[in-house]
Amino acid sequence: MTTATPPAASKTTAADDSSPANGQAAKGQATNGQSRNTQHAIPTNRVPTAARLKGLKCRECGADYDLAAKNVCEMCFGPLEVDYDYDAIKKSISREKIASGPASIWRYADLLPVEGAPQVDLHAGFTPLVRAERLGAKLGIKNLYIKNDTANPTWSFKDRVVSVALSRAVELGFDTAACASTGNLANSVAAHAAHAGLKCFVFIPADLEAGKVMNSLVYAPNVVAVKGNYDEVNRLCSEIADRNASWAFVNINVRPYYSEGSKTLAYEVAEQLGWRAPDHVVIPIASGSQLVKIHKGFGELKKLGLIEDTPVRLSGAQAEGCSPVAHAFETGSDFIKPVKPNTIAKSLAIGNPADGWYALDVIRKTEGAAAMVSDDEIVDGIKLLAECEGIFTETAGGVTIGVLKKLAEQGVIKPDETTVAYITGIGLKTQEAVAGRVGEPFQIEPNLASFEGVLKEVL
Ligand SMILES: Cc1ncc(COP(=O)(O)O)c(C=O)c1O
Ligand SMILES: [Zn+2]
Repeated sequence: MTTATPPAASKTTAADDSSPANGQAAKGQATNGQSRNTQHAIPTNRVPTAARLKGLKCRECGADYDLAAKNVCEMCFGPLEVDYDYDAIKKSISREKIASGPASIWRYADLLPVEGAPQVDLHAGFTPLVRAERLGAKLGIKNLYIKNDTANPTWSFKDRVVSVALSRAVELGFDTAACASTGNLANSVAAHAAHAGLKCFVFIPADLEAGKVMNSLVYAPNVVAVKGNYDEVNRLCSEIADRNASWAFVNINVRPYYSEGSKTLAYEVAEQLGWRAPDHVVIPIASGSQLVKIHKGFGELKKLGLIEDTPVRLSGAQAEGCSPVAHAFETGSDFIKPVKPNTIAKSLAIGNPADGWYALDVIRKTEGAAAMVSDDEIVDGIKLLAECEGIFTETAGGVTIGVLKKLAEQGVIKPDETTVAYITGIGLKTQEAVAGRVGEPFQIEPNLASFEGVLKEVL
């Protein structure tokens, strides 16, 4: 169990609730939602509370906890999540207030588990929602959109969860950022730690793509490549977290805060559609956290009266070589059977997904589906999105597009459902996947005749 307590510190600089969403600076803090990247707030060792944040709550038994760095229930070992006072939030939140906030996840600060102004902010979020007419026409979906989360500071959706986790970690007095990662999370933790001046350790499986490794190394964290798969990395990190009280492992001891960042993927889509929910969304699954939190995000907007209460179907996408959730869905099982991953979609290669059961439950409850695609179909998905929409996604996005296509062909996604496919990471980090599967440049001499030879071939 990981319940690291940060070191006691001498004074608090946490701002009050009024500062973050509208971009006003709290005393001593930079403007435009930017963090101070040399000095950190030094909070007291008591756990602070704010009107809209009630505490942490066990998802299984409902036990209540303080807003500390704690992720597992002491009574039943269930996962903890942040509990909000929605009545209090409802009194102050509005579409207008949100729209006047920064063009980042922090426009939704009232619904994020950070007390003051964001401490660690590279301006994650508010990424484009792209109308995908050409891809939609190919797949027979009339209103298809791509949520292009490749357009984040480190080119994946992980910037959302990391900005929230580390902002909270700084409030709690941690001095070191850490994570167990399949690649993108390590990139994001390393970048945000650099910006905030935090010490940093990122742990990855040793066999990751070169682009993922380089995109961590460049920020000069301590990159630890573990000779094992992600599940082994994660197990090791839980032990390390237990021994290092001043380390915030974003997806372990501060996971309840981290995971809330993914709710912004729902908020933004609703806002970008003109404050309404889509009918159907397709989301890649590794741990399953993102899918569960997107569901929570739409639910909160309905509860707060910011969108109409229309149903949103959530469908999950996995690779055949690591498909514990899709397998359980297809076989009608309630049990997520752990697997040893073997797929080119390394960012999704979690064989024993922490939120797998909760993701399956959301998929079933919302009448979505979970499906899997082969490695070949993943590459086809990457190419299809690039060729139809001009967006180069990584293997996780290839999984999403492959499953989107499959579900459309099977009639699970209906032609007139407004559908959003979440594209969560960029293709430049996983170039190995498409090497040899895309064209070659024409090699010519520097003269017209040589180019005319090309034209003859092409036209
Ligand atoms: C690009 C990308 N998409 C999706 C996911 C899956 O997220 P989750 O673990 O929340 O299911 C990951 C996880 O690392 C990822 O890197
Ligand atoms: Zn419990």
